Amino acid sequence: VAPVDPEITKQQHILQDTADLFHHILVNTEKGEAALAYLHKRGLTDETIEEFQLGYAPEERNLLVAFLNNRKIDYQDQRASGLFVEDQAGKLFDRFNDRVMFPLTDANGKVVGFSGRILQNDKTQAKYLNSPETKLFNKRDILFNLHRAKAEIGRDGGPILFEGYMDVIAAYQAGVKNGIASMGTSLTTEQVDIISHLSKRLTVCYDGDEPGQKAIERAVTMLADHPRLQTDVVVLPDGMDPDEYIRARGAEAFQAQVKSVLTPTAFMLQFLARGVDMHNDQAKLTYLNAALKIVGKINDPVARAVYVKQLAETTDVPISALNQSLPKPQPSQP
Ligand code: UTP
Ligand code: MN
Ligand code: MN
Ligand code: MN
Ligand code: MN
Repeated sequence: VAPVDPEITKQQHILQDTADLFHHILVNTEKGEAALAYLHKRGLTDETIEEFQLGYAPEERNLLVAFLNNRKIDYQDQRASGLFVEDQAGKLFDRFNDRVMFPLTDANGKVVGFSGRILQNDKTQAKYLNSPETKLFNKRDILFNLHRAKAEIGRDGGPILFEGYMDVIAAYQAGVKNGIASMGTSLTTEQVDIISHLSKRLTVCYDGDEPGQKAIERAVTMLADHPRLQTDVVVLPDGMDPDEYIRARGAEAFQAQVKSVLTPTAFMLQFLARGVDMHNDQAKLTYLNAALKIVGKINDPVARAVYVKQLAETTDVPISALNQSLPKPQPSQP
């Protein structure tokens, strides 16, 4: 067992106490009423709010400073927590103001940082504001909800990767408890490494909008040659994200939807075909060129045949012609 770094223990206490304070303000005080109403309006139950220890950081810019001063937390420790911004004279002010607070936890469920959401979308501020990098919070290797999802993975065949915190939480409330999310960035190699040590399978279920679909493309490309991890893809209809889908169609429909997976190849063929007019020969040839490159990477002859047949149907080109243009399978590496 590695020796405990007292610096880390101290920071863990500060962050846990802060999470408790924000949670208390949200659920028990008048200051938290609007934020609580906001979360209820988004369909979260009190039980879910409790489970995720959601909170509210009020408008004041010196509430947390006073709270930690009261607890005899010294200036340098406050500074190192990532909870404050600093003026030129070094004076500290609460970083999170008038935001719903999502505690971000490590693989053991310890609070390592926060993300705060504004209550009303407004173009002048970031919708979600995250803690900066600290000794405890390295966003490249944090996955939201990982400590809860870990317990579910054996049962469900692997975690489901969502884009956002609200997607993970809404899915959890809908009975899909193995959801995780990266920290508002594209998936990192560190996160992939963590996932691959927990499971052989990962399901990617990003938002159904255009940025979400592009993010799936990046994720499956990054995961394509992974030696241990098999990737599946869920595509949500009508540009919805998982949270919106659950609100619109309900928990049971969502549970079925996340089981209806595409292989990365099937996703890519569908992704590349979007918006392509198959009656325009030039557009169709450009699509076929890209599609054949993807199918050509598959070594399994049965899988190749399945996708060639699909392509023949989408493009109305005979299978034999497609097979002649298909790159030959590569002999597998020793
Ligand atoms: P989305 O824009 O899809 O937000 O960004 P969302 O998850 O649907 O959030 P709601 O439903 O509007 O509350 C996906 C994720 O990208 C990160 C967050 O992690 C968010 O959950 N993000 C987004 C940021 O970090 N900052 C932002 O300003 C916006
Ligand atoms: Mn509580
Ligand atoms: Mn999105
Ligand atoms: Mn979204
Ligand atoms: Mn959303």
